[in-house]
Amino acid sequence: MTVLIKGGTVVNAERSVRADVLCQDGTIAAVGENLDAPKGATVIDAGGQYVMPGGIDPHTHMQLPFMGTVASEDFYTGTAAGLAGGTTMIIDFVIPNPQQNIMDAYRQWREWAEKSVSDYSFHVAITWWDESVYKDMGTLVHEHGVNSFKHFMAYKGAIMADDEILVNSFSRAVELGAVPTVHAENGELVFRLQQEMYDKGLTGPEGHPLSRPPEVEGEAANRAIRIAEVLRAPLYVVHTSCRQALEAITRARNEGQRVFGEVLAGHLLIDDSVYQDPDFEVAAAHVMSPPFRSKDNQEALWHGLQSGNLQTTATDHCCFCADQKAAGKDDFRLIPNGTAGVENRLEALWHHGVGTGRLTMNEFVKVTSTNAAQIFNIYPRKGTVSVGADADIVVWDPAASKTISAKTHHQNIDYNIFEGMTVTGCASHTLSQGRVVYADGQLDVERGAGRYVDRPPFAPFYDALKIQAARAEPVAVRR
Ligand code: URP
Ligand code: ZN
Ligand code: ZN
Repeated sequence: MTVLIKGGTVVNAERSVRADVLCQDGTIAAVGENLDAPKGATVIDAGGQYVMPGGIDPHTHMQLPFMGTVASEDFYTGTAAGLAGGTTMIIDFVIPNPQQNIMDAYRQWREWAEKSVSDYSFHVAITWWDESVYKDMGTLVHEHGVNSFKHFMAYKGAIMADDEILVNSFSRAVELGAVPTVHAENGELVFRLQQEMYDKGLTGPEGHPLSRPPEVEGEAANRAIRIAEVLRAPLYVVHTSCRQALEAITRARNEGQRVFGEVLAGHLLIDDSVYQDPDFEVAAAHVMSPPFRSKDNQEALWHGLQSGNLQTTATDHCCFCADQKAAGKDDFRLIPNGTAGVENRLEALWHHGVGTGRLTMNEFVKVTSTNAAQIFNIYPRKGTVSVGADADIVVWDPAASKTISAKTHHQNIDYNIFEGMTVTGCASHTLSQGRVVYADGQLDVERGAGRYVDRPPFAPFYDALKIQAARAEPVAVRR
């Protein structure tokens, strides 16, 4: 398919320029003024619109088996919903059960993802440790294009990684040139506080945020950061939700550490009052971890994004419908943790970020696409509208308005955490591999068209880390 996007303004991370974009055979063939349409090309009139790299959501969980159920959104419906909102690639997670062979889990997730309609890749979670895990991490990096490993510091009794696992896995990641990532919450404290809340009679969703206060996240973020410091590992902190965790990231970055922070659209835009809703279904629909926070935390997160201390935005898209959330009707600890958003991240962040002046358009592109591509080493294949890049593109109409609702979204979930939010600025067209897959409200996707994207190790920041390591004294002497 040949597509010419004509008359728009190309917005990349580094600059915006009036230009046409020619997409041929899945990649961007030309970017320039007054390009002619080749014979038979589809022409998109992008007059008055912005032409941006498609969103990369670096944190989703399609059809995740979790807390006794399976996330309702699968790789087909989830990647289609992403495309409807301008997100052209997801990085999902392989999450082995403790003691499960890592390669078996990896192969299982690869099979599940074959029905994807957009490109995708996988972080792999390290949930246990022995020599086979050490070896499999090498196989994943060298033979399967995995360059990031996830560690859940919470979910005690299930997938929680203790300090021993963190130390072993971070060290191995450094050898391999991969990036360790963490879900930062102190799982022991969460376990204790959950019991306390339950014993006090706080059995409903209001007990959930009380059992996971910001201190619990701040402690874990700081611990992971300090472990990474000693091991000279880079670190990526997922779903940073509070001031304490942000401060730990900021402090480390100010000290020259290579720490990256992700923030969710949900944490930026929704506050913790949702847990007081008298309707169980509404409150439970918002149960995710870390929980939504107070408004002052939200403001701090925006500042983190504006200052560059947080580099990426994600959704942690992990869908559970009301009948699944009902498992925790009498005990909030049993409510499956997770909320949706892959379809709405770009429009919500544009409206509340660019529309309010908190972000420039170029910063918007950075935090929705380019930074993730760079950190996870798929740039410039992804994350830019440039010659040679994959033609994963969103044409953005800054004047279009819509009201977000579960009644009209494409996500396979019966609730939308942004329900009723009217946004100005939406995707008018989305291209995946140079094909128009979404135009003027209609999806035209092909089951299985999405490709697994290899992510090589040793992202460019590893060179800086190596130089630092070669020059450094042992950490114990330095202090
Ligand atoms: O509540 C959440 N976030 N569910 C998905 C698993 C995780 O912690 O990322
Ligand atoms: Zn998490
Ligand atoms: Zn997650």
